[in-house]
Amino acid sequence: MSTTPMMRQYQEAKRACPDALLLFRMGDFYELFFDDARTAARLLGLALTSREKGENAIPMAGFPHHQLDSYLAKMIAAGLRAAVCEQVEDPKLAKGLVKREVTRIVTPGTVTDEALLDPRQNNFLAAVAAGEPAGMAWVDVSTGRFLATSFPTAELPDQLARIAPAECLLAEDAAPLPRQLDERMMVTRRPGWAFSLETARQNLLKHFHTTSLEGFGFSDGPADAQALAAAGAVIDYLNETQKTSLGHVDRLVPQRTSGTLEIDVSSRRSLEITRTIREGRREGSLLAVLDRTATAMGSRLLAEWLASPLVDVAAIRGRHEAVAELLAEPALAESLHEMLRRVYDLQRLLARATTGRTSPRDLSFLGRTLRVLPGLKAKLAERKSLLLNQLEAELDLCPDLRSQLDAALADACPLASREGGFIRDGFHTDLDALRELAHGGKQWIAAYQAREAQRTGIPSLKVGFNKVFGYYLEISNAHRQKIPADYIRKQTVKNAERYITPELKEYEEKVLTADQQAKDLEYGLFLELRDAVAASRRRVQASAAVLSQIDVLGALADLARQRNYCRPEVVDEPLLVIVDGRHPVLDVLEPEGTFVPNDLAAGGPHGTVFLITGPNMSGKSTYIRQAALITLMAQIGSFVPAREATIGVADRIFARVGASDELARGQSTFMVEMTETARILNTATPRSLVILDEIGRGTSTYDGISLAWAVVEYLQEHVGCRTLFATHYHELTDLEKSLTGVKNLNVAVREWQEEVVFLHKIVEGAADKSYGIHVARLAGVPREVVNRAKEILAQLEDEHLDAQGRAKIARPRPAEKASHFQLTLFGAEHPLVDELRRTDLDSLTPRAALELLQRWQEGLGPKRGAPG
Ligand SMILES: Nc1ncnc2c1ncn2[C@@H]1O[C@H](COP(=O)(O)OP(=O)(O)OP(=O)(O)O)[C@@H](O)[C@H]1O
Ligand SMILES: [Mg+2]
Repeated sequence: MSTTPMMRQYQEAKRACPDALLLFRMGDFYELFFDDARTAARLLGLALTSREKGENAIPMAGFPHHQLDSYLAKMIAAGLRAAVCEQVEDPKLAKGLVKREVTRIVTPGTVTDEALLDPRQNNFLAAVAAGEPAGMAWVDVSTGRFLATSFPTAELPDQLARIAPAECLLAEDAAPLPRQLDERMMVTRRPGWAFSLETARQNLLKHFHTTSLEGFGFSDGPADAQALAAAGAVIDYLNETQKTSLGHVDRLVPQRTSGTLEIDVSSRRSLEITRTIREGRREGSLLAVLDRTATAMGSRLLAEWLASPLVDVAAIRGRHEAVAELLAEPALAESLHEMLRRVYDLQRLLARATTGRTSPRDLSFLGRTLRVLPGLKAKLAERKSLLLNQLEAELDLCPDLRSQLDAALADACPLASREGGFIRDGFHTDLDALRELAHGGKQWIAAYQAREAQRTGIPSLKVGFNKVFGYYLEISNAHRQKIPADYIRKQTVKNAERYITPELKEYEEKVLTADQQAKDLEYGLFLELRDAVAASRRRVQASAAVLSQIDVLGALADLARQRNYCRPEVVDEPLLVIVDGRHPVLDVLEPEGTFVPNDLAAGGPHGTVFLITGPNMSGKSTYIRQAALITLMAQIGSFVPAREATIGVADRIFARVGASDELARGQSTFMVEMTETARILNTATPRSLVILDEIGRGTSTYDGISLAWAVVEYLQEHVGCRTLFATHYHELTDLEKSLTGVKNLNVAVREWQEEVVFLHKIVEGAADKSYGIHVARLAGVPREVVNRAKEILAQLEDEHLDAQGRAKIARPRPAEKASHFQLTLFGAEHPLVDELRRTDLDSLTPRAALELLQRWQEGLGPKRGAPG
């Protein structure tokens, strides 16, 4: 171990934040040492060198200081945390070793640097307090939004998936988070005491400068204890990592989740709401299609609406009404959009102003945004929609702040606050005078130069300026003899000499001080403006909230117009009736006009469980997902891709789709499938919407069919929720006959010579074939294999299918109810049934009856158990 004073300083800093990469500022570089250097070399591609030689060699890696942002971004992306250790005194003035301090710790959940954040996404830091109920709190440090809630522990994965935090705090001794959660989330272990209610409460009270948390809507009792414990842990972590003011995190909002449509983690993933399953990208997700917002704030709000759709019919209709009005008035929508495009990210600007990380440019952007508000408010005045009216009323123009910023700030402002140049001329008399002195020098210098040229008789005499000597007089060697005695020689250059005079130096002093004084004065004015912004925080925040809502509503109207959506009728009854519905994402991705629209009528009189059969590649999965996505869209307040739609509000949407490979998450494919199925069966209510894609595919055919069969029966008889089930088990279509409320649908295909044409059109009835072998051929499976498969298929069908082409194993379950009994005692087509029906019992003598029985028995072949 090295013992140089600097390395001791390093070790000390490192001890304070052992689990972060320590970026140690040395001159113009940030250096990493020891294991940190090795990690950085491996993950960030830095060259590994060493400091000191031989036995004492220390592994080292580093980068130039101006690349800090880009390296921090890489570290965050790699799921690392970094501690930035700066030189906190001027090396020139330091006696001995320069003093260094860790000035901030950057982690995925606490980044605030603009360069490291996606403007369109919230960046949440969450904390989970384990227990029953579990508590969760989450904050976006870049905007100051801070919320907390509690819920049954079983809901933890779904709740976390809804927030999708970048980082989650967990007590040291708490059980690990469920593995199905997004591996992108960083988990940070914290000491157990940070989660103790007492410490947490103290941390919160100290942070908010209050004596109780009831003002925020939290109770003192056990109901909110876990939520507060999590919130306290968040504050504790922020205090440790941020090292700057957290004034913008100025309230804790209780989140009551009962008012939202619930979608569990795997359904959220399956439906590709914010990311695609395969590549995890935003492109191709529902969010990407819906997002036509003009501002980053709108983008973030839209994502929040998608994470927590509404269930209250009136609230949903309120949004639809606003969208309808914007849709009906394109000129209004257009001008709102145009104004919103001139709006900056008020929420993040405000957070920076409140935490002291702001710049003159930030403040001028804030001012410019406020300037847009009056026009916007005027446009919103006297609207029919209640929601638009309400937003108009809530839009606070903040006139005082706006005029203050407008009057003070120049049109183009720099980033630096100490270099001046951002206060408008004419705003401050003293500043104007100082500036005139600092800049007005040109005239004085011209006059002085002319005077001296005259006095010395040297016409080529010139006043110049350089950083080393300040102002000087330059005289070419040809005139050397004419130099007056009061000139002091300072420097010799090629063919000339440079001089100074006391008068010139005196002037210089005045100019330079004036310049510095002007800068200092400007900095003071900047601080005043910054404080004024911080003081108006609440009002600006309110307006930011209005702007983001207007933006989202406008974006939804724009989408509805562009893609020809309809306004869904939202009702409380569990109905789902869609005419000419389209899949919102495929509708955009497929070439214009090629997506085939389909109808659906489910719920109430239309039946509840729908079995969709049809060939591979025909559009079964697309059809059932489309139903779920349309419901989801309607419940965030969007119009929907259909000609007409009546949508009964769903309390939960379940999507069990495809057998995705969950090996990485530590469970077998089939186990995952069954876990998800169990959850649906246990938690779905009559108001839920369930879509199932190929349940039971991950096991043997018999197991699979049996399970699928029983699942459908259970859903129909015990839950009664709207269910769409896409399946290749044609045997299941028999359920239509035995259970009321079960209906068969299939996807039409046209066979033409050897070819199969997919029509993508959903029609009533069950499909008769799978065409799996046909799809295999399309996919390029070798001819030999395809032909051999056909042979085997023919053989299997021979052995295992009955006369109607159904697997012999699939028989309806033993009779429980009379209605089943009648239909299931005999196969529907058996000739006996017909004969029985036609027999007139009233005219049958006992003897004739016995004869009839005998004839039937003989018709069935030899007696069971009979000798012979
Ligand atoms: N209504 C439609 N209009 C146009 N194209 C469609 C439609 N539905 C599906 N498709 C196209 O067909 C492809 C396959 O659809 P989908 O995955 O829904 O088939 P599937 O019946 O579920 O197949 P498998 O049985 O193999 O799971 C889609 O990717 C899409 O390109
Ligand atoms: Mg499918």
